[in-house]
Amino acid sequence: MTMLEVQNLSKYFAVPAGVVHSVEDVSFSVERGETLGLVGESGCGKTTTGRTIIRIYEPTAGKIIFDGQDITSLTPREMLPFRKRMQMIFQDPYASLNPRMTVGDIVREPMVIHGIPKDEHSDRVAHLLRLVGLNSEQAGRYPHEFSGGQRQRIGIARALAVEPELIICDEPISALDVSIQAQIVNMLEDLQKSLGLTYIFIAHDLSMVRHISSRVAVMYLGRIVELAESGELYTNPKHPYTVSLLSSIPIPDPDKSDSREHIPLQGEIPSALNPPSGCAFRTRCPKARPECAALNAVLRDTGNGHLCACPFV
Ligand SMILES: Nc1ncnc2c1ncn2[C@@H]1O[C@H](COP(=O)(O)OP(=O)(O)OP(=O)(O)O)[C@@H](O)[C@H]1O
Ligand SMILES: [Mg+2]
Repeated sequence: MTMLEVQNLSKYFAVPAGVVHSVEDVSFSVERGETLGLVGESGCGKTTTGRTIIRIYEPTAGKIIFDGQDITSLTPREMLPFRKRMQMIFQDPYASLNPRMTVGDIVREPMVIHGIPKDEHSDRVAHLLRLVGLNSEQAGRYPHEFSGGQRQRIGIARALAVEPELIICDEPISALDVSIQAQIVNMLEDLQKSLGLTYIFIAHDLSMVRHISSRVAVMYLGRIVELAESGELYTNPKHPYTVSLLSSIPIPDPDKSDSREHIPLQGEIPSALNPPSGCAFRTRCPKARPECAALNAVLRDTGNGHLCACPFV
């Protein structure tokens, strides 16, 4: 069953220097209970995609279908019951928690917004804190009394407070110590199983989403350039950009010789204010040809649901 369908979604921002093409013609679907990884370099449009899906931003073009219902043009009031069903976890566990609110109030806030009866709040807060591995007695404390990993647990408890079905995890572990990252990922996986959650898991790094994702979409300059089942993407990357991203990940076993193709990424990402014509990756692509400037680099199925936007693979 499809939980979310994103069709030809674009999000532009008007700024004094022009129009920023943050998300350009993005399409994908997420099945109920699965995790879709969304990866790409800083500025490629991952957060904007997430925020547009939950309608924090107005889409410039395209459609968002949530559980079979078109939510693209709903008013904020009409959107409220859907917002309850889709929550977000943020990258920075320091900036995303209000320092003047107690942990209990932070976790309670979505319950207030979504009209959950007041007499249930305290029990729910205690239950949620235990669910994320914290102590229910900690509800009266303030965010600064917690470590980064604990703060992210508070952010997760807040996201779970209104029993959502879809959670957009926006780089939830990037700001944490490596030793803590696995704990949080394992907890998110356990919660997914026990609560039947669907995730979109955003990260810079392909190695970070590999194990948690059933499928992975790779973004470059606002577009998805490749999308495949997770294992398939790692063993058989097709788009030159994905190949570059993968060849920058060190292999875990130094005794194994590295037979992968190495295509180091060269140059800077072009500005989203003035993206290249044709295939947006062509200015950094080691396999670019003259015709790449004019082609329509849309995702096409290369077999078994492995989608790639480069027509030359
Ligand atoms: N509110 C905004 N106004 C104008 N431009 C924006 C806005 N939000 C994002 N952008 C621009 O849109 C592009 C995509 O930004 P976005 O934050 O979605 O990228 P990202 O992939 O999440 O990056 P990171 O990995 O650094 O979090 C960038 O060029 C960014 O500068
Ligand atoms: Mg981001």
